[in-house]
Amino acid sequence: MYQPDDEKKFITETRAWLKRLGGNALPIDQSEVDSLRTIIRYHEYRYYINSAPVIADAEYDALFAALKQTETLHPDWITEDSPTQRISEGLTKAFPSVYHLVPMLSLENSYNAEDLKDWDERVLGLVRGQDVQYTVEPKYDGAGISLVYENDKLTRGATRGDGSKGEEITVNIKQLRSIPLSAAFSKHGIHRIEIRGEVLINKNTFKQVNELRVQQGLAPFANPRNSASGGLRTLDPKEVAARRMEAFVYHVSVAEDKAGNNLLLNDDASHYGFIQLLHQLGFVTPIKDVSLCNNIDDVIKACEAFEKKRNDYPFEMDGLVVKVSSLRQQQLCGYTSHHPRWAMAYKFKAQQGTSKLVNIEFQVGRTGNITPVAKIDPVQLAGVTVTSVSMFNEDFIRDKDIRLGDTVLVERAGDVIPYIVMPIVEGRSGDEKQIHFPKNCPSCGDALVKIEDEAATRCVNINCPAQVLERLVHFVSKDAMNVKGFSIASIREFLEIGLVKDIPSIYKLDYDKILQLEGWKEKSVNNLKQTIESSKSQPLNRLIFGLGIRMVGETTAKKIAERVGDIFELQNWSVEQLREVEDVGPKVAQSISDFFHNRDNVAMLENLKRLGVNTVNDKPVKTEGKLSGKTFLFTGTLTMKRSDAEQLVESQGGKILGGVSAKLNYLVAGEDAGSKLDKAKKLGTVNVIDEQTFLKLIEEG
Ligand code: IVH
Repeated sequence: MYQPDDEKKFITETRAWLKRLGGNALPIDQSEVDSLRTIIRYHEYRYYINSAPVIADAEYDALFAALKQTETLHPDWITEDSPTQRISEGLTKAFPSVYHLVPMLSLENSYNAEDLKDWDERVLGLVRGQDVQYTVEPKYDGAGISLVYENDKLTRGATRGDGSKGEEITVNIKQLRSIPLSAAFSKHGIHRIEIRGEVLINKNTFKQVNELRVQQGLAPFANPRNSASGGLRTLDPKEVAARRMEAFVYHVSVAEDKAGNNLLLNDDASHYGFIQLLHQLGFVTPIKDVSLCNNIDDVIKACEAFEKKRNDYPFEMDGLVVKVSSLRQQQLCGYTSHHPRWAMAYKFKAQQGTSKLVNIEFQVGRTGNITPVAKIDPVQLAGVTVTSVSMFNEDFIRDKDIRLGDTVLVERAGDVIPYIVMPIVEGRSGDEKQIHFPKNCPSCGDALVKIEDEAATRCVNINCPAQVLERLVHFVSKDAMNVKGFSIASIREFLEIGLVKDIPSIYKLDYDKILQLEGWKEKSVNNLKQTIESSKSQPLNRLIFGLGIRMVGETTAKKIAERVGDIFELQNWSVEQLREVEDVGPKVAQSISDFFHNRDNVAMLENLKRLGVNTVNDKPVKTEGKLSGKTFLFTGTLTMKRSDAEQLVESQGGKILGGVSAKLNYLVAGEDAGSKLDKAKKLGTVNVIDEQTFLKLIEEG
C-alpha cells in the first residue's frame, strides 16, 4: 500500500502550491507537474485510505483542477499514473464491476452569478431562443449510486466508480430503507429505468454513529461522505445498516417501455416531472428543496438564498445543481465528453481552509477576559478574507495542542465566527513554539487571575485602560445605547486626552474642547452631542445591556428590564429571584447580583440618573414574587432605609399602601411607631410585625 515518505515536506509543499495557484501560476515544466502529482497522491492517501484529510476539500479540488488544466495545455506531459488518469477509482476486488447503462458524468462548476449568466447565455443559444425553465436543487455531498429497476423490481445497485463502470453492490443497496425494492413503474409505462442518486448520512446521525464508534474503541470517521462511501462498499451488510445511511435520487438516465422506446424523448418529459414521479413511487427525492425558476435571475436568487441557510440543512451539501428542466431542451443542449451542457453545479464558497499561524495577540475584553487571537496568513473562507481567529482561552489552545508556526485548519460556517478546527500535526517541522499564556495583563501589567472552574483568564483591575476602552465602546454600540458616530478611534482619543474616563463622563463631554481637535467640525460635534443626548432616553433594557455585566447579553437584559420598574430595584434582588427570570442560570444570576452589590457600580448608575439617563421601565411585567398579592406599610424608625424596604417588597411582587385600611395585610413597625400602629391594632385585621420578622418573611416566602 502507498505510504507517504515525508508528510511534513508534503504539507509545506501543499501550502506553497496553494499560494502559487492562488496567483494562477500553473506548473511550468514536467518536474513541476510531477511534484504537484505527488502532492495530490499524498492527499488522496490521507483522504481515502487514512480517512483523515489534512487539507480542506476545496483546496484539494484546486490542486486537482490545476493538474487537469496543465495536462489539457500540455497533453504530452500526461503520465499513465497521473491522478487524472485513474480509471477505477476506489474499486476493490470484493465486488464485481459493472458498466452503467449510461456513463455517470460529472458536472461543470460555477462559483458566482456571473458564471451562471454566462452559462444561461450558452443554453439559450443551444435551445435557439426558447423559454427555459430551470430547476435548482441541493448538490449532495455523499457517495454517488446508480439503480436499475426492471419490471418494477430493483435489479442492480452500483457505485459511481469511475463514471463508466462502478462496483455492483446490490446486496448493500438493499440494506438502505430509503430505496424501494420494488416500485410501480409499469403503471407509468416504464419497463426499465436507470436512476442516479447519492447516499448520505444525516449530520446528526453521523455525530451519533461517531460517538458510538468512539465508545467501542473505534476511530471516528473523518466526515459523512467518507463514512457513506466506505459504508456502501463494506463486505458486511450489517455494517451497512449500522451506518444509518439514506439515499436521495435526483436523475433518470434511462427510461424505456417494453418495446425499448426511449421515454426520455417524450415531448413533455421533464426533470421536474421525473422527480415528482419518483417521489410518488416512494423514493426520497429533493422535491421539497427544488426551486422551479423561469429565468436565470430567479436561479441566482434561489442559489443565494440557499447558500445563506446551507448550515441549517440536515445533510452535507457542497453546492447546488441547476438543470434545464425540459428533457427535450436537455437533448438540444447535449454533452461535452465530461459533462452535460444542460446542468451546472453552483459551488458554495469554501468554509474551510488551511493557513499558517504566524502570531498571537492577547486581547483584553471589557470584562477583563484575556482572549488569545491567532493571526494567520490570509485565507478566503465563505467569501471573506480571514486573518484573525479567536482561540477563546488557554484551555482551547492546550486541548488542541496548537503551536505558534503550526499549519491550522480554519472553518467559518455561516455567521459563526471563524475557528481553528485543528492543527495539522503532520506538517510540523519541529520549529513550532509552545504558546505561553501571559502572567500579566498586556494593557495594564497587573497580574492575571485564573478563576477555578472557569476557562477564562482575567485582568481584575477595573481601571485597566483596555477594559475601560472596551466598556465604553460596548456602552455606545448599536445594540446598547446606540450613540451613532462615536467611533472606537474617537473614544480611544478622548480617553488618551482625558475627555472621557468612564461611562458617566460620556454625558459630561466638553464639546468646545472636541471642536478644537483635529477632524472635528461644528456639524460633527453637534451630531455627536445630539445622539448622546437622545441616547439618554433609550429603554431600560439597552442601558442594562450597555453596562456590560458579565454573561448578560441582549436577551437577558431584555428579560430583566421587563421585570423591574427601576434599575435600582435590582440591588435588592437575591440570586434566587434572579434565577426565576427566564434563561437566567446560576452563573448569570450571580454575575448580575455581584454587579448590583458593588458600590461603585451603584454610584455610577446614580450618577447616570442624575445626568438624565433613563433608569426606569414604565411597564414592568408583574412578577410572581414571594409577596405577590400582599400589601405592606412601614412605620416608625427602621434600621434599613425606608425606600430600600419598600423596594424589597415591590421586587417580590408585594404592594406598598399609603395608609392603614382594611386592605392592609402587614404593618412593619419600627421604633417609636405612633398613630398608624394604634389604628392597625384597632382594626384587628392587620398583621403587625417588626423588621426582623419582615426580613424572615422575605427569606422564607
Ligand atoms: S445530476 C449527468 N444532481 O455530483 C449528471 N448530481 O459532480 C447527472 N450530485 O456525479 C448528475 N447532487 O454524484 C446531479 N442533485 C444532484 C446531485 C448530483 C450530487 C453529484 C453526482 C455527480 C456529481 C457531479
